[in-house]
Amino acid sequence: TDSVVLNHYQELKLKLANKDDRWMDLCFRVFDDGVGFRYEIPKQERVDSLVILDEITEFNFAQSAMAWSIPANYESYEFLYRTCSLDSVQSANTPITLRTDDGTYMSIHEANLTNYAGMTLINKGGNNFECDLVPWPDRIKVKAKTSLMSPWRTIMITDHAGELIESHLIQNLNEPSKIHDVSWIKPMKYVGIWWGMHLGAETWTMGQHHGATTENMKRYIDFASSYNIQGVLAEGWNTGWEDWGKLGAFDQTTTYADYNFDEVVAYARQKKVELIGHHETGGDILTYEQRMDTAMQMLSNHGIRVLKTGYAGPIPKGQFHHGQWMVNHYRRVVETAAKYQLMLDVHEPIKATGISRTWPNMMTREGVRGMEWNAWSEGNPPEHHLIIPFTRGLGGPIDYTPGIFDIKYEKRKRYVRWNSNDKGNSRVNTTLAKQMALWVTLYSPLQMASDQIENYEGHPAFKFFENLPVSWNESRVLAAEIGDYLAVARRNDDSWWIGTTTDEKARVLELPLSFLKTGINYQAIIYADDADTDLEENPAAFLIHHDRVNTETILTVKMVAGGGQAIKITPLKE
Ligand code: NOJ
Ligand code: CA
Repeated sequence: TDSVVLNHYQELKLKLANKDDRWMDLCFRVFDDGVGFRYEIPKQERVDSLVILDEITEFNFAQSAMAWSIPANYESYEFLYRTCSLDSVQSANTPITLRTDDGTYMSIHEANLTNYAGMTLINKGGNNFECDLVPWPDRIKVKAKTSLMSPWRTIMITDHAGELIESHLIQNLNEPSKIHDVSWIKPMKYVGIWWGMHLGAETWTMGQHHGATTENMKRYIDFASSYNIQGVLAEGWNTGWEDWGKLGAFDQTTTYADYNFDEVVAYARQKKVELIGHHETGGDILTYEQRMDTAMQMLSNHGIRVLKTGYAGPIPKGQFHHGQWMVNHYRRVVETAAKYQLMLDVHEPIKATGISRTWPNMMTREGVRGMEWNAWSEGNPPEHHLIIPFTRGLGGPIDYTPGIFDIKYEKRKRYVRWNSNDKGNSRVNTTLAKQMALWVTLYSPLQMASDQIENYEGHPAFKFFENLPVSWNESRVLAAEIGDYLAVARRNDDSWWIGTTTDEKARVLELPLSFLKTGINYQAIIYADDADTDLEENPAAFLIHHDRVNTETILTVKMVAGGGQAIKITPLKE
């Protein structure tokens, strides 16, 4: 989110030895905006293997606080966030974020989760929490050879909610890049054959409504090339989807008969559009470990540089999704992808702990209750987007996949309702302007416009995405309160892009544009909720207006319930 990051801290290392002279280091790093500590067991005599039966790190708070968290869960991070007092939190997956009565913000998480088990938190009474590591099938938590380093246990501490988002503490507690030539790693925007399947209008499997056909893909490539979008994703291009859930089902090297891989590759190249590969594993880790090398090589041989992976399904029996075994699997995937110069977008990932500093090809990931839930459940409430940037987002980029313009699915003509959770009234619980704002507030170096392209074609608001830069020089939070509202400004060169969002309450924010350069006038193009925009009845109504602004301007930002604004500010050439 910033092109330059300061990594400034004081370090203290304590050597702790027991009577028979086996020892470990307890290491602290203290930053301006928080602290990290970890356990380091170096190679030493009389230690030939390490087994962790329990980690008893505790986080004990002197008083209660307001807390935002999801429940501890060894398998999933796709939950709605709870807002409640800290002492009533029974358990949590991290990040868990707090606001004390005197207005101090804190967030507990972990950084650099490498060759270790994921950490959950269990309430031990009152405001006292103990670490509960995700176990192996034999209940052991962590297995190592002769040395070991725990992830950093992190506590971010700030005066304002927005400073949590601006912090780089998690990234800073990761190792420098292991990839020397990073010239092939580039953020990009993308569209894809995706939302139609979640709606039930198209299918992943081959048949009458198959999404990933050669023809459809060409249509998406044409669209991307005319709207300044670098990447196109296709899901359901390879065989196996009809056997989803069975071992060995997905074959990530064999295409369906109606998807001509070579033809699509050639067409994309001609149109100067990048293809985004997709490997759904269905959770079948053992098969994928055998196949991934060849499957990644196939992508790289065809000049494909981005890969989305997925783990929608049960992993091998006895293992948990967030245990050490899976942490190691996900890392092997990142390393193998780096070998083939592939950037990754991981769905159903391991939690984000900042490893993209070490492996910058790890671009973005899910690990959140994302857009898809709106297709086939009661959906994500308006406040969801006002909590995830302050919790899950602190670990790293989120592939939430914003940008649904057909908010109430009014165009679902061929809708076949494949998922029984959808009672037929599923929809997106925001206004259209807020969908656009999420492209800015929810940072992701691979950023999707997730709707079916027919909903963007000729739409006046899509200009915003068309012009949206893919990377940023600096990011600032202009206004923020967890669960209520968020305004983020990001700079690319001399231009600023602002996203503002609100929860279920209508709000007016006054945003001073004092970050603009003095002596220069700018043009602001503002995509806003209109006077008659209404979350229930008329969520897609919006207004575009132009304004002349400068560093003295205070922008009055009006948002209806569930609404937002997307703003582009560029210097006027006068
Ligand atoms: C879940 C992923 O989050 C979604 O993006 C994908 O379309 C499905 N799995 C199928 O792979
Ligand atoms: Ca709220």
